Amino acid sequence: MKHFINLKDLPSKDLRKIITDARRRKKLRKKLSALETDKGSPLKGKILIQMFEKASSRTRISFYLAIKQLGGGTLTLRSNELHLGQGGESIADTAKILSTYGDGFMLRTDSDKKVEDFKKYLSIPIINGLSPSSHPTQVLSDVFTVEEIMKKPISNLNICWIGDSNNVLDSLIAASVKFSFKLSIGCPKKFEPGKEVRAWVKKNNKQIFIYNDAKKAVSGSDVIFSDKVISLNDKVNKKKKIQAFKNFKIDKKLMSYANKNCIFLHCLPRGDEVSDDVFLGKKSHVWQQALNRVHVQKSILLYCFGKLR
Ligand code: CP
Ligand code: NVA
Repeated sequence: MKHFINLKDLPSKDLRKIITDARRRKKLRKKLSALETDKGSPLKGKILIQMFEKASSRTRISFYLAIKQLGGGTLTLRSNELHLGQGGESIADTAKILSTYGDGFMLRTDSDKKVEDFKKYLSIPIINGLSPSSHPTQVLSDVFTVEEIMKKPISNLNICWIGDSNNVLDSLIAASVKFSFKLSIGCPKKFEPGKEVRAWVKKNNKQIFIYNDAKKAVSGSDVIFSDKVISLNDKVNKKKKIQAFKNFKIDKKLMSYANKNCIFLHCLPRGDEVSDDVFLGKKSHVWQQALNRVHVQKSILLYCFGKLR
C-alpha cells in the first residue's frame, strides 16, 4: 500500500513514473468527454473518500473527475458533519470506519499530525490534499504542466517562486530536490523558508537560491510560480503581511526581467500578488495548470492503489 503525503518521502523514480503515466493517459483520452472512462476502467468498483476541513474548489472537483475517469467513484465529506468533528469520535475509530467502507482516503487539513495519525490507523492509502507543510498533488501536477508547456525536462529549466514560504513552496522545494531543478525564491527576509526545510535541502546535497529582491529572483527564469500571500486560515496580521510583500507583486514589469519565453503559473485561488494583465495574459497558463490536476491525480490514484504500470 502506497501513501501520497509529502514529495520529500517519495522516491524520485516513482514521481517520474506518475508523470509519465499521466502524460500517456492524457494523450489517449483526447477525444473523450469528462465522465467517460479510460480504457479498461482500472479503478472500477473503487471508492475514494475525500474529507475537507478547509475550503477547496479545484482539489475537490479534480479528484472527483480523476477517479470517475478511472471507473471508480468518490464520496466527499466535511469533517464537521462526522462524529469525528461533532462528537469527538477518535481518529483511530474514524480511520477504521473509512477503511471498512472506502478504498482510498484524501484529506485536506490544518494539521500535519492529523495526516500522520490517520496514516497510522488506516488500512487504505491516504493522499494529502493540502496540509500546513505540503501540497504534493498540486506541485507534482505543476511539474507535469511545466514540462508539457516547455517541452523539456524540468531539470533543464530555471524555476522561480515569488511569494510566501507556505505549503506549496515547501512541496516545490521538495520537487526541486527530487527532479533536480534550479529553484530561486523571491520573498521578504521575514518570510523566507524555515530552517528545517533548508536543512533538508542541504542534507540532500542540493541548493535553493533565496533573494529578498524580486527582480534578482526572477532574473534568468523560465517559469514563475506564485500563490496567495495570505493562505487559508493563515493566522497573521494580514495588513502587515501584505505590506511586507508590496515590492513582490508580479506585474508585466517584473516579468520583463525573466527570460523572454518565461511562463507564469499559479495554483489558485489568487489575491493581489499578481496583476490581472499577467494572470490573464499570454504568458499565463493557469487554466491548463488547473486542468492538469485531473490527469496527474489519476496517476497518483493508480500509484496508491498499486495499479500504476
Ligand atoms: N489549488 C488548489 O488546491 O485549489 P483549491 O483550494 O480550490 O482546491
Ligand atoms: N497556500 C495556499 C494554497 C491554496 C491551494 C493555502 O494553503 O491556502
